[in-house]
Amino acid sequence: MSFDHFDYKGVRFAKGAHTEETISHAENEFEVFDDDIYNVTYPKSGTNWMIEILNLIKHKGDVTKSNVIPIHFRSPWYEAVGCQEYIDKMDSPRILSSHLPHHIFAKSYFKSKAKIIYTMRNPRDVIVSMFHFTKILSLYTPAENFQNFIEDFIQGKALFGSWFDHVKGWMQMKDDERFFFITYEELLQDLRGGVIRICKFLGQELDDAQIDLVVKHSTFKSMKENPMSNWSQIPSEIMDLSKGAFMRKGISGDWKNHFTVAQSEYFDKIYQEKMKDLNMSFFWEQSS
Ligand code: A3P
Repeated sequence: MSFDHFDYKGVRFAKGAHTEETISHAENEFEVFDDDIYNVTYPKSGTNWMIEILNLIKHKGDVTKSNVIPIHFRSPWYEAVGCQEYIDKMDSPRILSSHLPHHIFAKSYFKSKAKIIYTMRNPRDVIVSMFHFTKILSLYTPAENFQNFIEDFIQGKALFGSWFDHVKGWMQMKDDERFFFITYEELLQDLRGGVIRICKFLGQELDDAQIDLVVKHSTFKSMKENPMSNWSQIPSEIMDLSKGAFMRKGISGDWKNHFTVAQSEYFDKIYQEKMKDLNMSFFWEQSS
């Protein structure tokens, strides 16, 4: 997995998208407000899906903003280069995104009442989604060798470091009342149920019709067709959608079309080893 990078506290970041200053600012100086909502994920785990859901919940299903504001401006990544100026203009409650691991997250968060929604996805599908993403996002050298890609992912040589460390780091907060976690697969299986649980966590009271609207406008089909949600507003020098779609497949289990049996068994062994100290079982462990 190749991209121009630097390391910060053991985690790999992409030059261009981040600098040591933006990461240090995000960690040490960024001011978290008590009513902020943070959409935190490891990349390719459903970040944009959650941006859509959270913004629709904020507006009680009203799609107006989703139809006029590109998705990357609705909930900017607070650690990324150039995002602060949008964040400064945001209305409260701010919905912000982040891929930061727990140990680099804004220190001011831990003294606040702000809420975090952490979305996780089967790491095998994360690998596949990321593999294809390298072909359209210009900061990456397009990946060709899937075996090497799996190995780099396992070794934490991906953007934002190790998936295993990310998940284990954030799961330290699983019993904190400011923290809610959900999986991509749960959302796929029951989007309405997921939206209702998120509303409850946020203390947002939406009626049935409003929940229906949130669901309607956050399906894969709606987002893929919405030019403000499918990343088609981004310059092609940054993301070249002629080489592949950002809204690619939106399914669970595409890894089965990419992993050989040997790769799957190898990954499984590593997964068991790395996750054994986290006493939790995840949705994908039953089905993979
Ligand atoms: P695939 O590449 O497997 O299709 P992120 O937003 O974290 O970068 O994650 C991108 C992945 O989420 C892509 O996965 C994308 O298709 C999928 N995705 C985005 N919106 C979705 C939706 N509404 N429903 C299902 N999957 C969605």
